[in-house]
Amino acid sequence: MTPLHYRRPEESDHRRVVEAIPLWWKMPPEAAPTGLLPRLFFQHFTDTSILVEDDSGQLAAFLIGFRSASRPETAYIHFVGVAPELQRHGVARDLYERFFAMMRDRGCTRVDAITGPINRRSQSFHGALGFTQAGDTEVDGVLAYLDYDGPGQHRVTFTRAL
Ligand SMILES: CC(C)(COP(=O)(O)OP(=O)(O)OC[C@H]1O[C@@H](n2cnc3c(N)ncnc32)[C@H](O)[C@@H]1OP(=O)(O)O)[C@@H](O)C(=O)NCCC(=O)NCCS
Repeated sequence: MTPLHYRRPEESDHRRVVEAIPLWWKMPPEAAPTGLLPRLFFQHFTDTSILVEDDSGQLAAFLIGFRSASRPETAYIHFVGVAPELQRHGVARDLYERFFAMMRDRGCTRVDAITGPINRRSQSFHGALGFTQAGDTEVDGVLAYLDYDGPGQHRVTFTRAL
């Protein structure tokens, strides 16, 4: 696989990350979850997030995460993506392990994340990384919390000890 280079994201990276989302999620722009990644994440959460580029400077992957301001023992992974041609090569696993180490150093003892009930790929990935999946109602064949993020916005939660 091509050599990869890891660094903190900068505000100027916001545009190309947002532009990558429909391609990487394989969704039309109007349906892609770009709204989950407003510019503020590239202003206020850069010291705990990671951006990956290949040798030519092309965007290869990113992880947006942070330490909870209200629950300092908890780290939170908000968003992760890997370029399609690099998927299933352990890039996201490596990003998560880098994030876990960074958060352990800051004193966190658990890491949380969420996804939608239909995102089976995310559920398989988090399961493979040792996360416990939770929900209280069967939605689309998996347990999810109904209306977790608002009416109709059901979510599966993940947690893992650090
Ligand atoms: C989900 C995603 C981040 C995984 O990234 P990745 O770099 O391909 O994942 P890894 O190679 O580190 O996979 C680690 C393990 O997770 C599991 N896994 C990853 N992708 C999977 C898939 N598509 N289906 C089933 N299991 C999967 C496997 O157990 C894998 O280990 P293995 O390859 O040795 O079997 C990537 O597919 C992606 O960016 N998808 C589009 C965006 C998206 O849905 N993001 C939200 C996910 S939280």
